[in-house]
Amino acid sequence: MYCVRNVTEDLYWVGANDHRLHLFENIHPIPRGVSYNAYLLLDEKTVLFDTVDWSACRQLLENVEHLLGERPLDYLVINHMEPDHGASIEEILLRWPQVKVISTEKSFLFMRQFGFQIDGHALIEVKEGDTQTFGKHTVTFVAAPMVHWPEAMVTFDTTNGVLFSADAFGSFGALDGKLFADEVNFDRDWIDDARRYLTNIVGKYGPHIQLLLKKAGTILDQIKYICPLHGPVWRKDLGYFIDKYDKWSRYEPEEKGVMIAYASMYGNTEAAAQALAAKLCEKGVTNVWVYDVSNTHVSYLVSESFRLSHIVLASVTYNLGIYPVMHDYLMHLKGLNLQNRTFALIENGSWAPKSGDLMQKFVDEELKNMTVLNDRLSIASSLHADKAAELESLADSIVESMQ
Ligand SMILES: Cc1cc2nc3c(=O)[nH]c(=O)nc-3n(C[C@H](O)[C@H](O)[C@H](O)COP(=O)(O)O)c2cc1C
Ligand SMILES: [Fe+2]
Ligand SMILES: [Fe+2]
Repeated sequence: MYCVRNVTEDLYWVGANDHRLHLFENIHPIPRGVSYNAYLLLDEKTVLFDTVDWSACRQLLENVEHLLGERPLDYLVINHMEPDHGASIEEILLRWPQVKVISTEKSFLFMRQFGFQIDGHALIEVKEGDTQTFGKHTVTFVAAPMVHWPEAMVTFDTTNGVLFSADAFGSFGALDGKLFADEVNFDRDWIDDARRYLTNIVGKYGPHIQLLLKKAGTILDQIKYICPLHGPVWRKDLGYFIDKYDKWSRYEPEEKGVMIAYASMYGNTEAAAQALAAKLCEKGVTNVWVYDVSNTHVSYLVSESFRLSHIVLASVTYNLGIYPVMHDYLMHLKGLNLQNRTFALIENGSWAPKSGDLMQKFVDEELKNMTVLNDRLSIASSLHADKAAELESLADSIVESMQ
């Protein structure tokens, strides 16, 4: 059965929802599923904007065939050819061999690399600023390198103000009927998945997102709709989401708050983390979030690290090193380029505590623009009352640094 929704006048969502995939990119859990968005414009010419993952191809075809009826498909615009969007290109070419494919030079190169059979079809290579008219609608192509792959572009329809934003402004989470961000309680039900999507998928490329935001800024008053490749379409309160993207891509925290990430085998480091959390709350800082790195998927840890201003790392020493799962989390922060946070450290060791120095070294040498507070809490196996003053002063210095 086809499943389409009207976006505006002659533009339709023809994508699909996926609740079967457990791990996006085979790494990030998506308990709420994900959507692969594609859009069909029925102008004098018919235009499909992007395709879907291979697993959703059949749904895309039913949707497109339903809306086209007897009409041919004239154009296929590929903003981003990564397989979660581009895998169905070949199938579209098989069904509509006369379709003209519009994309970037690098995108066509990648399609060939992936083995998509595109040669022999009409291929239109576009670059920054090129335009194309489909009848009433004229679109402009804007390069968006590294948002999320180097071949990516976005397309702006100057006629109706629709920005096809590729992976930018996307989110994890299946739509399940609700196409528009204003049909859900986004700030309550979606923002965490949107942040987890952006920070984990494109977090590393903040400056590239900034570049795209700058370009969008010059036509901000003309953008009426943002149609991303995942998650809801924006037609109201665009500023809310653009502002979030701006913060995330500048690596500025969204909130003053403390994330306490602990690594503990027998619960003693965990107890210290809890004691610190309680102390912070007692001192009036209640935006405190405690995570066990061993049972929290790192994509959530990354997302929370982008949200909050302060991060406490509490780790046991493990074979003279940082606990491996904690180290993995730190490696993710490095890989995703997180900056501008204040850290505090808690170390634990029973015979040769090393995790404090090693975490300090990691934050100092591997991460950018970070501050590490001086008051480190060092625990010998378990936290005793004799360290109450040190705990107090660690909490104080965190609170003070939040002023
Ligand atoms: C496999 C393993 C390796 C450890 N290696 C070290 C070490 O190199 N140096 C050290 O001081 N403590 C080491 N410890 C002890 C822990 O760091 C820690 O002090 C103890 O497990 C209590 O913390 P917890 O209750 O939070 O797990 C090790 C423990 C285990 C199980
Ligand atoms: Fe992508
Ligand atoms: Fe994607």
